[in-house]
Amino acid sequence: MLLEQGSDVLGPEIRHAWTPDQIQNRAHKSKCNWVTYALIVFIIIPISFIIIVIMVAPSRNSQTIINPQTIKCPGKWIEVRSKCFYFSDGTRNWTASKTFCRSQRSELAQIDTRQDLEFLKKYTGTFMHWIGLSRKEGEPWTWTNGKIFNSWFEISGNGYFAFLSADGVNSSRGFDDMKWICSKPQI
Ligand SMILES: *[C@@H]1O[C@H](CO)[C@@H](O)[C@H](O)[C@H]1NC(C)=O
Ligand SMILES: *[C@@H]1O[C@H](CO)[C@@H](O)[C@H](O)[C@H]1NC(C)=O
Repeated sequence: MLLEQGSDVLGPEIRHAWTPDQIQNRAHKSKCNWVTYALIVFIIIPISFIIIVIMVAPSRNSQTIINPQTIKCPGKWIEVRSKCFYFSDGTRNWTASKTFCRSQRSELAQIDTRQDLEFLKKYTGTFMHWIGLSRKEGEPWTWTNGKIFNSWFEISGNGYFAFLSADGVNSSRGFDDMKWICSKPQI
């Protein structure tokens, strides 16, 4: 009586022994489960992964191009605000320095802001460095990118080619060899 009550509580599975049909059915079910797992693990997951990678990869690339914060200046270049600056080790005359910067897809230093000027002056130390300003006789100072210099800083001396020193911007005839600075935007 007690047993009967207990088996009622446990449910019909416990009361009956497994028939061979049921066992086979169960085996078949677990085979189906394995097939499902195999499908998920070896086909659906890898395919989903590939699809996600394909969808995410190009958008990540375009982000690096758009977001300036993720862009670093190459190798020896120094990152200052929105620009990259290169300070040469060797020395050349003004024209050869300009040619070097062009070969690096940059300009002989273009200086747009007082902050940049102060930074470059500090970094230039005791050395004189060519920057991207020159003039022809009777013409205004012009940046190597073709823009006319609007005289927002003073250029001392009577030369035709500008260089930076710790004292500020000075000028000479451009024949002498000295270090130089290249600049380019970060993008
Ligand atoms: C400019 O350069 C010349 C020659 O290098 C130097 O004699 C002169 O003192 C410099 N001027 C300034 C203001 O640094
Ligand atoms: C500048 O240097 C280059 C290479 O050393 C030389 O060929 C050129 O004549 C020089 N130019 C001036 C103006 O000194």
